[in-house]
Amino acid sequence: MALPLSDVRAFQRDPLALVADRAASADLGFVPLYLTLRPVWLATDPLIATSVLKAKTDDVDKGKLVQRLRPIMGESLLTNVGDGHGRTKTAVHRHVQRNAAVANLEGMLAAINHCVSRVAVDGYYDCESVSAPLALQLGCIALFGHEVITVADRVALISAVRAVEAELADDMFRMFPSPPWRARERETRLAHARSIVDEVVSRARRSKIRSPIMLSLESAGLTDEQISAEILGLLIAGHHTTGATISWIAQHLALDPTISDMIALEADAMLDSLEAGDAGALRRAPLSLAFVREILRLYPAGWWTSREVMGKVTIGGKTFRAGDVIMVSPWQLHRDPRFWEEPDVLKLDRDFTADAYMPFGVGPRSCIGQSIAWFELQLVTLQLSSAFTFLQAANEGPALPRPSVTLLAPDLRFKVHPRRQSVMWDRENVA
Ligand code: HEM
Repeated sequence: MALPLSDVRAFQRDPLALVADRAASADLGFVPLYLTLRPVWLATDPLIATSVLKAKTDDVDKGKLVQRLRPIMGESLLTNVGDGHGRTKTAVHRHVQRNAAVANLEGMLAAINHCVSRVAVDGYYDCESVSAPLALQLGCIALFGHEVITVADRVALISAVRAVEAELADDMFRMFPSPPWRARERETRLAHARSIVDEVVSRARRSKIRSPIMLSLESAGLTDEQISAEILGLLIAGHHTTGATISWIAQHLALDPTISDMIALEADAMLDSLEAGDAGALRRAPLSLAFVREILRLYPAGWWTSREVMGKVTIGGKTFRAGDVIMVSPWQLHRDPRFWEEPDVLKLDRDFTADAYMPFGVGPRSCIGQSIAWFELQLVTLQLSSAFTFLQAANEGPALPRPSVTLLAPDLRFKVHPRRQSVMWDRENVA
C-alpha cells in the first residue's frame, strides 16, 4: 500500500513521466497519484476524463486550485467558480471567437511579417526571444485591436504578465506557505504588475477603437478593476500556451523538412488571399491545419488540469467524496499508445475527432481562447514556413518539454535560410 506523499519526489523530478507511467501501469479508469495526504485520481480513460470535465459544477469544480490562484491573479474567468464564472463566460465567450481574430487579420499578418523580418536579420530563430513575445503581441491585437496600444505599453504589459506568471509558477507547486516577509515582497511585486495592467487597459479604453472583446467586457457590467483582471487573465492564459506552441511549430519545421516544404507550397498558394483580407482561405489550407493539430497533440500546453469533488458523486463506476481531487492530463491522453498509433511521431493523417484529443479541454471550463489560438497558430505556421527553411543541428531529435504551469519549450535556436528574395528585402528594411 503506497504512502501519502510518496509520489511527490517523482512528480517534482519528472511529472510527465509520472503521469504517463502510472497510466500505462493500470487498466483504463482512475489511477492514484500519491501527491497529497489523500490520493489524486488520474482519469486515464478519455471518456471518463470527459465526464469529469463535463460534470455539473455543483458536483465537480475547480475548487481549491483557483482559490490559490485568486490572490495572485485577481478574480477573472480563470479563477472564478460557480455563477460568477458562468455569467462572465457567457458574456465574453461569443466575442472571444474566430471573428475577433478575423477582424484583426491585417494587424496579425503585419505583426508576424515584422517578426519574420527580424528573424531574417538575425539569421536564426531563437524560441526564447521570438515565440512568447509574438504570442503576446498577437494576444494584444486580438484583445485591444491593431495599434491601439503603443509599443511601450506592450513592453510594459509583457513585464507585468511575466511578473505574475513567475509568482504563479512559484506558488502552484509549493508544498508549504511562504514566510510572511516573502509574502509581503510578493504582494508588492504583484501590486506593481497590476498597476501596469490597469494603466494600459485604461489608456486602451480611452481609444476611439474598441475591440469586440473590450466592448463585451464593458457591456457585461464589470467594474474597471474586474475588466483589468479579465484582460490580465486572458493575456496570461494565452501567453505561454500559444508561445510554447509556436516554438514547437518552429522545431518541427526544422525536424521535418519535407512537411515544411509542403506547407510552404500551401502557403504560397494562399498568402495573397489572406493578405487581401480573405480569412476563409485558412479553411482551404488543410496541411497547415493538420500540422497545428498534431503539434497540439504532441505538446498540449495545458498538459494537466484538476477538479475537486464537491459532494458524493459517482463517475466512471468510482464513487468520490467531497474534497477528492481528480486530475486529467491531455499529455498522457495524447501520448497513450492505447489511443494513438506511434504516439510520439508527428503524422498529418490522424483522426483528430478521437475522444483522447483535448488540447483545449472540454466542458464548462474549456479554453475560451481556442478559436483565436487556432487562427494565430495556423497563420504563424504558414508565414514561417513560407519565409524560411529551418535547419536542425545534425542528429538532434525533438527536444524535451519543460513542464511548469504549462508545458514550456526549452531554449531552442534554429538557423534559418530565407526561401525567397522578398524576405531578404524585408530584412534589409528592418536592418
Ligand atoms: C495553444 C494555445 C492554448 C492552449 C493549448 C490552451 C489550453 C487551455 C486549456 C486546456 C484550458 C482548460 C483548462 C482546464 O480545463 O482547467 C484553457 C482554459 C482557458 N484558456 Fe486557453 N489555451 C490556449 C490559448 C488561449 C488563449 C489565446 C486565450 C485568451 C485569448 C486563452 C484563454 C483561456 C481562459 C480564459 C481559460 C479559462 C476558461 C475557464 O476557466 O472557463 N487560452 N486553455
